[in-house]
Amino acid sequence: MRIFKKEHIPKPKVTLDVYPQAPLDLEIGCGVGLHPIAYCRANPQRNLIALDRSRLRMHKMEKSMQGLGLQNLYMVCEDADKFVAHEVKPGSIENLFLLYPNPYPKKAQANKRWHQMPLMACFLDALTREGRVHLATNEAFYAQEAKRYFVEQWQLRVEYEASYQNQLPFMPRTHFEKKYIERGETIYDFIFAKR
Ligand SMILES: C[S@@+](CC[C@H](N)C(=O)[O-])C[C@H]1O[C@@H](n2cnc3c(N)ncnc32)[C@H](O)[C@@H]1O
Repeated sequence: MRIFKKEHIPKPKVTLDVYPQAPLDLEIGCGVGLHPIAYCRANPQRNLIALDRSRLRMHKMEKSMQGLGLQNLYMVCEDADKFVAHEVKPGSIENLFLLYPNPYPKKAQANKRWHQMPLMACFLDALTREGRVHLATNEAFYAQEAKRYFVEQWQLRVEYEASYQNQLPFMPRTHFEKKYIERGETIYDFIFAKR
């Protein structure tokens, strides 16, 4: 694995005026925002930075948030690498959510999967000592490979592992999760923790 070099990453266009207070969590690739909105409503004492590079999806999220008065949700429309490398303070994030990341199934795209990117070192550096990575995917190959990378390459331990089909023991957390469960696909759910 190449060493991650922050100085090679361009600066983000989007920055935060004030860095959110602890306890702070980060969701990368939050899509239309189902999870960040529900999470912030259920956890008013926590702050969450919810990031996605898609303007269209962020716009939909903004609409869904209207009138809710959520003070603990910080929306960021930016590339994850630029924002995390330059704006997220090391050791400041307790929970990192990677829910249904793009799986990049083609062999030639394997180096775009989060767990295969040197950038993951920067994501993990952003975590507190007790930090956790929450990963969900509908791709069996991705689940297996990510687990192997998180344990062997990134030296995390598996704190929780489950798979579900047709039914979930909780309300669907994200737009994609809802779609996959309705289609009868299996979803794989993990929490990885620092050792
Ligand atoms: C498959 S969608 C999942 C969305 C949401 N988590 C859900 O489950 O409904 C993946 C999301 O990751 C975002 N994404 C992919 N690569 C990204 C990057 N480098 N920086 C920021 N967002 C990214 C995409 O724009 C997309 O919204």
